[in-house]
Amino acid sequence: MKFFIDTANLQDIQEAHDLGVLDGVTTNPSLMAKEGIFGHDNVIAHYKKICDIVDGDISAEVIAVDFDGMVREGEFLAELHPNIVVKVPMIREGVKAIRHFSERGIKTNCTLVFSAGQALLAAKAGATYVSPFVGRLDDVGTDGLQLIEQIVQIYGNYGYQTQVLAASVRHVMHLIQCAEIGADVVTCPLSVITGLLHHPLTDNGLQKFLSDHAKGNV
Ligand code: E4P
Repeated sequence: MKFFIDTANLQDIQEAHDLGVLDGVTTNPSLMAKEGIFGHDNVIAHYKKICDIVDGDISAEVIAVDFDGMVREGEFLAELHPNIVVKVPMIREGVKAIRHFSERGIKTNCTLVFSAGQALLAAKAGATYVSPFVGRLDDVGTDGLQLIEQIVQIYGNYGYQTQVLAASVRHVMHLIQCAEIGADVVTCPLSVITGLLHHPLTDNGLQKFLSDHAKGNV
Protein backbone atom coordinates (compact mmCIF):
# COMPACT_ATOMS: atom_id res chain seq x y z
CA MET A 1 0.00 0.00 0.00
CA LYS A 2 1.33 3.43 -0.93
CA PHE A 3 1.52 6.18 1.72
CA PHE A 4 0.64 9.69 0.55
CA ILE A 5 0.70 12.66 2.91
CA ASP A 6 -2.38 14.87 2.85
CA THR A 7 -0.99 18.34 3.45
CA ALA A 8 0.59 21.39 1.86
CA ASN A 9 2.87 21.90 4.88
CA LEU A 10 6.44 21.66 3.60
CA GLN A 11 7.92 20.70 6.99
CA ASP A 12 5.51 17.81 7.39
CA ILE A 13 6.16 16.69 3.82
CA GLN A 14 9.92 16.84 4.43
CA GLU A 15 9.58 14.90 7.72
CA ALA A 16 7.49 12.13 6.11
CA HIS A 17 9.94 12.01 3.21
CA ASP A 18 12.92 11.78 5.60
CA LEU A 19 11.28 8.82 7.33
CA GLY A 20 11.73 7.03 4.02
CA VAL A 21 8.18 5.76 3.60
CA LEU A 22 6.49 8.50 1.57
CA ASP A 23 5.16 7.68 -1.90
CA GLY A 24 3.33 10.89 -2.78
CA VAL A 25 1.37 13.95 -1.69
CA THR A 26 -2.23 15.08 -1.96
CA THR A 27 -3.25 18.70 -1.59
CA ASN A 28 -6.52 20.55 -1.94
CA PRO A 29 -7.49 24.24 -1.90
CA SER A 30 -8.34 24.09 1.82
CA LEU A 31 -4.93 22.59 2.67
CA MET A 32 -3.24 25.35 0.61
CA ALA A 33 -5.30 28.02 2.43
CA LYS A 34 -4.34 26.46 5.79
CA GLU A 35 -0.67 27.16 4.93
CA GLY A 36 -1.52 30.74 3.83
CA ILE A 37 -0.82 29.97 0.17
CA PHE A 38 -3.13 32.15 -1.95
CA GLY A 39 -3.04 33.41 -5.54
CA HIS A 40 -2.19 31.54 -8.74
CA ASP A 41 1.55 32.26 -8.78
CA ASN A 42 2.06 31.37 -5.12
CA VAL A 43 0.09 28.15 -5.47
CA ILE A 44 2.11 27.12 -8.54
CA ALA A 45 5.40 27.96 -6.80
CA HIS A 46 4.27 25.85 -3.85
CA TYR A 47 3.54 22.82 -6.04
CA LYS A 48 7.05 23.15 -7.46
CA LYS A 49 8.53 23.16 -3.93
CA ILE A 50 6.58 19.98 -3.09
CA CYS A 51 7.83 18.32 -6.30
CA ASP A 52 11.40 19.23 -5.28
CA ILE A 53 10.98 17.33 -1.98
CA VAL A 54 9.06 14.22 -3.05
CA ASP A 55 9.73 12.00 -6.03
CA GLY A 56 6.22 10.56 -6.29
CA ASP A 57 2.75 11.49 -7.45
CA ILE A 58 1.66 14.95 -6.28
CA SER A 59 -2.05 15.77 -6.62
CA ALA A 60 -2.80 19.36 -7.62
CA GLU A 61 -6.48 20.31 -7.70
CA VAL A 62 -8.23 22.31 -10.41
CA ILE A 63 -10.42 25.19 -9.27
CA ALA A 64 -12.57 25.47 -12.42
CA VAL A 65 -15.86 23.56 -12.43
CA ASP A 66 -16.53 23.77 -16.18
CA PHE A 67 -14.97 21.39 -18.72
CA ASP A 68 -12.95 23.99 -20.67
CA GLY A 69 -11.64 25.58 -17.48
CA MET A 70 -10.66 22.22 -15.97
CA VAL A 71 -8.87 21.20 -19.16
CA ARG A 72 -7.01 24.52 -19.33
CA GLU A 73 -5.96 24.39 -15.68
CA GLY A 74 -5.20 20.66 -15.69
CA GLU A 75 -3.01 20.82 -18.78
CA PHE A 76 -1.10 23.74 -17.25
CA LEU A 77 -0.62 21.87 -13.96
CA ALA A 78 0.49 18.69 -15.73
CA GLU A 79 3.16 20.68 -17.57
CA LEU A 80 4.72 21.82 -14.28
CA HIS A 81 6.30 18.45 -13.47
CA PRO A 82 5.94 14.84 -14.65
CA ASN A 83 4.82 13.81 -11.13
CA ILE A 84 1.81 16.13 -11.07
CA VAL A 85 -1.55 14.36 -10.93
CA VAL A 86 -4.51 16.56 -11.85
CA LYS A 87 -7.13 16.39 -9.12
CA VAL A 88 -10.64 16.75 -10.50
CA PRO A 89 -13.92 16.82 -8.56
CA MET A 90 -16.56 14.10 -9.12
CA ILE A 91 -19.05 16.22 -11.04
CA ARG A 92 -20.45 15.82 -14.58
CA GLU A 93 -17.86 18.16 -16.13
CA GLY A 94 -15.17 16.50 -14.04
CA VAL A 95 -15.93 13.07 -15.49
CA LYS A 96 -15.63 14.52 -19.01
CA ALA A 97 -12.36 16.19 -18.06
CA ILE A 98 -10.97 12.92 -16.61
CA ARG A 99 -11.77 11.17 -19.90
CA HIS A 100 -10.04 14.01 -21.79
CA PHE A 101 -6.92 13.81 -19.59
CA SER A 102 -6.75 10.01 -19.65
CA GLU A 103 -6.83 10.00 -23.46
CA ARG A 104 -3.81 12.33 -23.39
CA GLY A 105 -1.80 10.37 -20.83
CA ILE A 106 -2.31 12.96 -18.08
CA LYS A 107 -2.69 11.35 -14.64
CA THR A 108 -5.83 12.21 -12.65
CA ASN A 109 -7.17 11.87 -9.13
CA CYS A 110 -10.96 11.95 -8.97
CA THR A 111 -11.77 13.64 -5.66
CA LEU A 112 -14.84 14.14 -3.45
CA VAL A 113 -16.06 10.60 -4.02
CA PHE A 114 -18.72 9.41 -1.56
CA SER A 115 -20.44 6.49 -3.31
CA ALA A 116 -19.63 3.29 -5.20
CA GLY A 117 -21.49 4.62 -8.24
CA GLN A 118 -19.26 7.69 -8.36
CA ALA A 119 -16.18 5.45 -8.08
CA LEU A 120 -17.44 3.31 -10.96
CA LEU A 121 -17.86 6.42 -13.12
CA ALA A 122 -14.34 7.61 -12.26
CA ALA A 123 -12.89 4.23 -13.30
CA LYS A 124 -14.86 4.15 -16.53
CA ALA A 125 -13.62 7.65 -17.37
CA GLY A 126 -10.04 6.38 -16.90
CA ALA A 127 -9.02 8.06 -13.63
CA THR A 128 -5.57 7.09 -12.35
CA TYR A 129 -6.78 7.38 -8.75
CA VAL A 130 -10.19 7.58 -7.11
CA SER A 131 -10.43 9.32 -3.73
CA PRO A 132 -13.28 8.14 -1.50
CA PHE A 133 -13.35 10.28 1.67
CA VAL A 134 -13.45 7.86 4.62
CA GLY A 135 -13.45 10.35 7.52
CA ARG A 136 -16.04 12.69 6.05
CA LEU A 137 -18.45 9.76 5.60
CA ASP A 138 -17.83 8.67 9.20
CA ASP A 139 -18.55 12.29 10.23
CA VAL A 140 -22.10 11.97 8.89
CA GLY A 141 -22.76 8.54 10.38
CA THR A 142 -21.97 6.44 7.30
CA ASP A 143 -19.27 3.77 7.36
CA GLY A 144 -16.44 5.19 5.23
CA LEU A 145 -14.41 1.98 5.31
CA GLN A 146 -17.36 0.01 3.97
CA LEU A 147 -17.21 2.21 0.87
CA ILE A 148 -13.50 1.39 0.42
CA GLU A 149 -14.39 -2.31 0.62
CA GLN A 150 -17.15 -1.92 -1.97
CA ILE A 151 -14.92 -0.05 -4.41
CA VAL A 152 -12.03 -2.52 -4.04
CA GLN A 153 -14.46 -5.35 -4.78
CA ILE A 154 -16.07 -3.63 -7.78
CA TYR A 155 -12.74 -2.67 -9.35
CA GLY A 156 -11.47 -6.22 -8.75
CA ASN A 157 -14.55 -7.71 -10.46
CA TYR A 158 -13.69 -5.97 -13.72
CA GLY A 159 -9.96 -5.39 -13.47
CA TYR A 160 -10.19 -1.59 -13.53
CA GLN A 161 -6.73 -0.06 -13.35
CA THR A 162 -7.89 2.95 -11.31
CA GLN A 163 -6.15 2.90 -7.93
CA VAL A 164 -8.23 3.21 -4.78
CA LEU A 165 -6.78 6.13 -2.81
CA ALA A 166 -8.44 6.16 0.60
CA ALA A 167 -8.68 9.86 1.51
CA SER A 168 -9.79 11.73 4.60
CA VAL A 169 -8.00 9.08 6.65
CA ARG A 170 -8.01 10.52 10.16
CA HIS A 171 -6.39 7.98 12.48
CA VAL A 172 -4.20 4.90 12.68
CA MET A 173 -7.09 2.40 12.71
CA HIS A 174 -8.45 3.89 9.48
CA LEU A 175 -5.05 3.30 7.90
CA ILE A 176 -4.68 -0.26 9.20
CA GLN A 177 -8.19 -1.18 8.08
CA CYS A 178 -7.56 0.30 4.63
CA ALA A 179 -4.51 -1.97 4.41
CA GLU A 180 -6.61 -5.00 5.46
CA ILE A 181 -9.22 -4.17 2.84
CA GLY A 182 -6.58 -3.76 0.14
CA ALA A 183 -6.74 -0.06 -0.70
CA ASP A 184 -3.92 0.81 -3.13
CA VAL A 185 -3.05 4.08 -1.37
CA VAL A 186 -3.92 5.98 1.79
CA THR A 187 -3.50 9.70 2.17
CA CYS A 188 -3.38 11.10 5.70
CA PRO A 189 -1.73 13.72 7.90
CA LEU A 190 1.82 13.21 9.21
CA SER A 191 0.44 12.38 12.69
CA VAL A 192 -1.26 9.25 11.31
CA ILE A 193 1.95 8.03 9.66
CA THR A 194 4.06 8.67 12.77
CA GLY A 195 1.24 7.19 14.89
CA LEU A 196 2.17 3.82 13.40
CA LEU A 197 5.52 3.99 15.16
CA HIS A 198 4.35 3.90 18.71
CA HIS A 199 3.81 1.03 21.11
CA PRO A 200 4.46 1.25 24.87
CA LEU A 201 6.01 -2.25 24.88
CA THR A 202 8.56 -1.05 22.31
CA ASP A 203 9.48 1.94 24.50
CA ASN A 204 9.61 -0.13 27.71
CA GLY A 205 11.54 -2.92 25.99
CA LEU A 206 14.11 -0.52 24.59
CA GLN A 207 14.54 1.19 27.94
CA LYS A 208 15.20 -2.19 29.59
CA PHE A 209 17.68 -3.27 26.89
CA LEU A 210 19.60 0.01 27.25
CA SER A 211 19.63 -0.09 31.07
CA ASP A 212 20.76 -3.76 31.10
CA HIS A 213 23.50 -2.92 28.60
CA ALA A 214 24.60 0.02 30.78
CA LYS A 215 25.11 -2.33 33.77
CA GLY A 216 28.21 -3.63 32.04
CA ASN A 217 29.66 -0.11 31.91
CA VAL A 218 29.62 0.57 35.67
C1 E4P B 1 -8.20 14.18 -0.24
O1 E4P B 1 -7.37 14.16 -1.11
C2 E4P B 1 -8.46 15.29 0.65
O2 E4P B 1 -7.39 16.20 0.50
C3 E4P B 1 -8.48 14.92 2.11
O3 E4P B 1 -8.10 13.60 2.35
C4 E4P B 1 -9.64 15.41 2.86
O4 E4P B 1 -9.47 15.09 4.22
P1 E4P B 1 -10.32 15.78 5.38
O5 E4P B 1 -11.71 15.23 5.32
O6 E4P B 1 -9.62 15.38 6.64
O7 E4P B 1 -10.30 17.26 5.10
